[in-house]
Amino acid sequence: MSDDRIVTAARVDEDVPYEAGLRPRTLDDYIGQDRVRENLHVSIEAARQRGEALDHVLLYGPPGLGKTTLAYVIANELGVPIRSTAGPVIEKPGDLAAMLTNLQAREVLFIDEVHRMSPAIEEILYPAMEDYELDIVIGQGPSARSVKVPVRRFTLIGATTRTGLLTSPLRSRFGIVHRLDFYSDDNILEIVQRSARIIGVPIDLDAAHEIARRARGTPRVANRLLRRVRDYAQVRANGHITLDVAHRALRLLEVDELGFDEIDRRLLRTIIEKFGGGPVGVASLAAAMSEERDAIEDIYEPFLIQIGFLDRTPRGRVATARAYEYFGLSAPGKDRLW
Ligand code: ADE
Repeated sequence: MSDDRIVTAARVDEDVPYEAGLRPRTLDDYIGQDRVRENLHVSIEAARQRGEALDHVLLYGPPGLGKTTLAYVIANELGVPIRSTAGPVIEKPGDLAAMLTNLQAREVLFIDEVHRMSPAIEEILYPAMEDYELDIVIGQGPSARSVKVPVRRFTLIGATTRTGLLTSPLRSRFGIVHRLDFYSDDNILEIVQRSARIIGVPIDLDAAHEIARRARGTPRVANRLLRRVRDYAQVRANGHITLDVAHRALRLLEVDELGFDEIDRRLLRTIIEKFGGGPVGVASLAAAMSEERDAIEDIYEPFLIQIGFLDRTPRGRVATARAYEYFGLSAPGKDRLW
C-alpha cells in the first residue's frame, strides 16, 4: 500500500510526536466540528455536574480528522486520566479484562480502530459497557464456570472510520455517537496558523491559505504539509514561509492545487481508462490498482467523494464530469451508445 505519500490521511510514524505536541487540550482550543463540540460540551458538563461517568462515546469518520485528539480532549475536560489502546493490539480477552479492572471510576478507556477487535474480545466488552461487570470463565471443560467481576463506572471512547464496520451489539452500546466531517478551508487555515505558532515558524497569511487549500480538509495533512514546507523554507530560503516559498515547496512535493497526489490521479484514471468511467466495484478497482480495498474505501475515496470527483452508487464507483474535466477530458454523455 502506498502510504508514504505526503497527503495520506493515515497516521504515519513521524506524525506521532508532532501530533502530541499540537493537540488541543480543551474543547475551546479545538477548531472546527462545531456541532460535535457543542454536543460534547453539554454531555460533559451534565456528567460532571452529576458526578457520573460520561456515557460511552463513539467517534467515526475518515482518518486524520481528530478522533484521537477529541478523545484526549474529552478526558481532559472530564478531569480524568485516559488509557489508550487499539482494536488490533488487544490479543487476548485477559488483556482487555486487566485494563477494564484497573480503571478507576469515571476514567476513560480509548480504543482506536474499535471495529478491529476479535469476537472473543468484543464479548468481554458487552457486559462491561452495559452492566459494568465482566463475565470471566474460569477452568476448562465440565468444571468450567463463569464468575462475574465488577468494574468501576468508566467511559469507553471508541474510534472507527465507518460505523457500518461495527457489529450491531457493539454499536448499540454507545450512548453518544458523533461523525467527524472534513474541515472547511477556513478551519484548516486556523489550524495551520495555530500549528505554525506552536512550532515557531513565521508564515504569511497567503502562504497559510495556500497550505490549507491543499490539505484535503484534513488537519493531519495540513500539519504534515506545514512541516515539509517549513523544511523547505529553512533550507532553500531564510526560514520564513512566504507565498512564493510555499508554492515552490508544494511544487517540489508534487501536491497539486486540489491537494491531489499520484494515487488520487491513478484512482480516477483507472476508473476512467480501464472501466469506462464506471460503475466499477471496489474489489475490481482495488485489484486493478494493486491497492488494498480497505485503504481505497477508508483513505482515498472519502475525500474524492467529498469534493465531487467520485460517486459511490449501488452498482459501484463512478468518475464524475468534474473528474473528467480535471484531466482535460470530456465526460461521456448520458446518451452515449456504447
Ligand atoms: N490540530 C489537529 N486538529 C486540530 C483541531 N481540530 N483543532 C486544533 N488543532 C488541531
